Amino acid sequence: MTSSDLSSSIVILTGAGISAESGLDTFRGSSTGGGGVWSQYRLEDVATPEAFARDPDLVHSFYNARRAALLDVEPNSAHTALARLERDWAGTVTIVTQNVDDLHERGGSNALIHMHGELRRAWCRACGERYAWLEDLSIDSICPACKHAGSMRPDVVWFGEMPYQMDRIYQLLEDCDVFAAIGTSGNVYPAAQFVQHAAQYGAETFELNLEPTELARAFHSNAYGNASEIVPNWVERLLRDTDAS
Ligand code: OAD
Repeated sequence: MTSSDLSSSIVILTGAGISAESGLDTFRGSSTGGGGVWSQYRLEDVATPEAFARDPDLVHSFYNARRAALLDVEPNSAHTALARLERDWAGTVTIVTQNVDDLHERGGSNALIHMHGELRRAWCRACGERYAWLEDLSIDSICPACKHAGSMRPDVVWFGEMPYQMDRIYQLLEDCDVFAAIGTSGNVYPAAQFVQHAAQYGAETFELNLEPTELARAFHSNAYGNASEIVPNWVERLLRDTDAS
């Protein structure tokens, strides 16, 4: 970071790659690794409102399995390094995650936006209430508020739906001094546009990923390798450079 200003604000977009070393599958795999979730399932079958209308059992079982997998994983050193950055940085640090897992919060991050929703939340389509939800969901699940059966869905954003808190996210991107994208392939919009948006408003931009993405040239700087190594190193450097200034 060139402008080591104590009051700088940092926005960090994260994707499945930051949770890969915790044991959660990425969606698209990598040139060196396995195939990813979308090589086992067609996203049209499990991650769209049309899929849920057509076959809610299949959609519930897909998300139930992913929710259950959270019981077997822990945050890794990339998650905890970002929590340290939030704690030790004098300016603001906000994580905007596409991940529906809860590893950022378990790693200690507080300023967090789940733009694609959360596996451990459910949403009643009958009354609109949203809840913390740790159990399986099914077509028989009953809404705790309105008691309607069959109206509960995972509180995740499906393809064709609007990600959460977009107005707030664009404001953060316009106001930030540093923008980093960590462990995301840049395949899914609107998140894939965030780097251009932040840069247009003057942010210094970093890509941290296992390998260069198709968006790599849109970033000012980059670091490639496992998130558990490159993210703690990047955080260390930011905090050290600021201390030295
Ligand atoms: P992807 O699976 O598309 O991309 C994961 C990225 O992480 C790839 O660029 C990998 O190279 C990188 N990666 C893998 N292992 C890594 C490691 N150990 N360290 C660092 N990087 C690593 O996942 P996302 O970009 O998060 O949306 O996908 C975005 C959205 O597409 C998801 O939120 C989901 C998906 O379809 C919905 O379901 C709506």
